[in-house]
Amino acid sequence: MEIIRLPKELPVEPKCVLVPTMGALHEGHLSLIRCASEMGPVVTSIFVNPTQFNDPADYEAYRRSEDADAKLAEEAGCDFLFIPSVEAMYPYGTQATVTVHVPEITEKWEGSHRPGHFDGVTTVVAKLFNMVRPKATVFGSKDWQQCMVVRRMIADLGYPIEMVIGDTVREPDGLAMSSRNERLSIEGRTRAIFLFQTLTNTAEAFREGKPMQNAVTELLDHGFQSVDYIATVDAHSLDPVQKYTGNERVIAAATIDGVRLIDNVPV
Ligand code: PAJ
Repeated sequence: MEIIRLPKELPVEPKCVLVPTMGALHEGHLSLIRCASEMGPVVTSIFVNPTQFNDPADYEAYRRSEDADAKLAEEAGCDFLFIPSVEAMYPYGTQATVTVHVPEITEKWEGSHRPGHFDGVTTVVAKLFNMVRPKATVFGSKDWQQCMVVRRMIADLGYPIEMVIGDTVREPDGLAMSSRNERLSIEGRTRAIFLFQTLTNTAEAFREGKPMQNAVTELLDHGFQSVDYIATVDAHSLDPVQKYTGNERVIAAATIDGVRLIDNVPV
């Protein structure tokens, strides 16, 4: 595996597959790299993107672990690991940006709770697409709304890039893997599984035509400090839905132990 730090050193490889990450790699990321490696040479990017963080403290606290990440990425089948500095990624600042403005997809849920977040994501992902020029890219369904935003950017800007969405990898008890899980206390870690359980219960109730009214209360009762949202939405438009068609997802964001967790499940 080759480590690359400057955009100009990236391979001129028209058939490669890009897996964008912010590092602190875990099984969720590695499953995407494995999936990508079945399609072609893999470029994995590791870049903690300052423009998508709402909270500077969260940006600073984000775990940087380049050596461990490089080992894990290589074992998973990565061919080129792209680790640019902030200066290499934004040499002239951030005057030109990419915004996807589709009210129901970008302004709601994560969009309304993290103003500017998706602009940071689409801008950095567009830059990565332009630098790497992949034939395909792999994202994780853990961040379902992010997938829908990027999918829309690809379609609207005409990027000739196939987007593949990999399944969410979970801990044995159901908690979706995330680098932020490391910040939970032992007590918080035990209680965090109720996010997945509540999502699963909500999906099941919805399927059976008995929409759950008390999902928020359930999470608060299980020790969550706040619930930004838990909603059953159309998987693609992200509009709230009332009737089961088999094309829905239950999405949620809630804070426990001061750690904001997001997760979703198909209905
Ligand atoms: P990051 O949070 O590092 O996630 C990188 C990719 O891994 C995303 O596509 C995310 O959905 C996926 N992922 C995270 N946890 C996962 C899990 N448990 N199972 C499966 N896939 C998982 O998402 C970002 O970085 C950034 O916003 C980025 C797209 C890199 C732009 O900066």
